[in-house]
Amino acid sequence: MKSNPTPNADVVLRPRAVERLVVGTETSDGAGVRLTRVLPHSLQRRLDPYLMLDAFGSDDPDDYIAGFPDHPHRGFETITYMLAGNMRHRDSAGHEGLLGNGGVQWMTAGRGVIHSEIPQQEEGVMEGFQLWLNLPARDKMCVPWYKNFGPTDLPRYTTDDGVAVTVIAGTSHGVSGAVTREATAPLYLDIRLPAGTRFAQVLPPGHNAFMYVYRGQAGVAGRAIPKQHMAILANDAQADGVMIEAAGDARVLLVAGRPLNEPIAQYGPFVMNTQEEIRQAMADYRDGRLGAAA
Ligand code: FE2
Repeated sequence: MKSNPTPNADVVLRPRAVERLVVGTETSDGAGVRLTRVLPHSLQRRLDPYLMLDAFGSDDPDDYIAGFPDHPHRGFETITYMLAGNMRHRDSAGHEGLLGNGGVQWMTAGRGVIHSEIPQQEEGVMEGFQLWLNLPARDKMCVPWYKNFGPTDLPRYTTDDGVAVTVIAGTSHGVSGAVTREATAPLYLDIRLPAGTRFAQVLPPGHNAFMYVYRGQAGVAGRAIPKQHMAILANDAQADGVMIEAAGDARVLLVAGRPLNEPIAQYGPFVMNTQEEIRQAMADYRDGRLGAAA
């Protein structure tokens, strides 16, 4: 009998289907960092509580060297996952940290931070993701929070089939992630599937969920999801999770969360509930109140 490294392996009997595939848009942000916007503004309602997902990956320093000089955020959380490369973060709350290969930086902007994200390398590969997670109205003006997780700080497990999972947030096969949030219940997994394997993950029916395939190709319920495609998973009330299959080696992000169902008012790096709150954020930033000590 095989030993089971994940005693609470997820069992999925009625897997979700793919609602549709989305191809990211090439764009640039910060001081000219080239990136792919995987989850755009137009999907914020459909994928509530997620506001944005950017993928960046290049071995050309011109694509990333300028980084993201000082800029503000208010009203949500940013989760940066680095696959390769080094980036230094500094913010107005006094936090400073180096984000390196396989690490995660989780920042709750709350009532406001001004920060910079600057590459600490002049050559080589820089690759990773930045995900924006909304905050419920009652927490939008909370005290900013920040934590850096090195690769060894992130919970990981391997299934009997050899599927290796990093649990950045939420719970998978009984393994709790680095971060939990009550209101949005985020699940954020990085999944490495060897050729010929499959992986089951339980998902609450009402939670919005999507996958992003960044190496190889994956399949869900008979639908192929090519590399650099996002699959929005259907919110079928009868479904109890997702079953991911890989004919060849694949790497996939799986993201899910409980929708907030609150109004979303966004102006660039400020995400609030009303236009009045956006005007206030802009005024606070202009007058030096955003990011200032309370
Ligand atoms: Fe930022």
